[in-house]
Amino acid sequence: MKENLIAPSILSADFARLGEEVDNVLASGADIVHFDVMDNHYVPNLTIGPLVCEALRKHGVTAPIDVHLMIKPVDRIVPDFAAAGASYITFHPEASEHVDRTLQLIRSEGCKPGLVFNPATSLSVLQHVMNKVDMILLMSVNPGFSGQSFLPSALDKLREARKLIDQSGRDIRLEIDGGVKADNIGEIRAAGADTFVAGSAIFGAAREDDPNHYDTVISAMRAALAESPS
Ligand code: DX5
Ligand code: ZN
Repeated sequence: MKENLIAPSILSADFARLGEEVDNVLASGADIVHFDVMDNHYVPNLTIGPLVCEALRKHGVTAPIDVHLMIKPVDRIVPDFAAAGASYITFHPEASEHVDRTLQLIRSEGCKPGLVFNPATSLSVLQHVMNKVDMILLMSVNPGFSGQSFLPSALDKLREARKLIDQSGRDIRLEIDGGVKADNIGEIRAAGADTFVAGSAIFGAAREDDPNHYDTVISAMRAALAESPS
């Protein structure tokens, strides 16, 4: 198994102090920055775009930025995110007319491509593009909002995706997004995930004695990951 990565979703950060929030969460032990892009069209919410990604890079963020596109169409904005410093760019197959082309576009722009699967979306498309993805992101909530409860059906789907990744022999991250907390992260890892998005669970749990530190919750997640059966 790959190293476990914790990816705070900045959707739950204080946007008025975003640079500081990202610095604090990384200093508290997070590995990558999960960047949720919503367009009020593919999902019923509106968030942030390439300008904010670029602003984080200019602010000095060097950690990987994991851009999760919940937008339709996808292709027009890909070069803008690449230029803004995105590391991973993932999108929902329903949101692109030509999934293979979009995956190629993301790679040609110098980023790592990935596909995102909603709770009711089959993994079958992977059969045809497994050699073109560096990340598979499974939604354990319906996309659009933070703070929703983890859907347990994601566990079987993780096992299915893990099998596909192992059979492919490729270096592909298996990420889970939605309702991840310290008390369920262990079973999520045991089902095969290696990259864990958490929004409300991290940003809603600043250390009691210091609102700028998130190390208590991130340590609790790491401890649960270390204890989870392989
Ligand atoms: C939902 C987003 C998630 C969200 C997760 O559409 O993709 O990344 O911020 O938030 P929590 O961890 O609170 O479920
Ligand atoms: Zn997300």
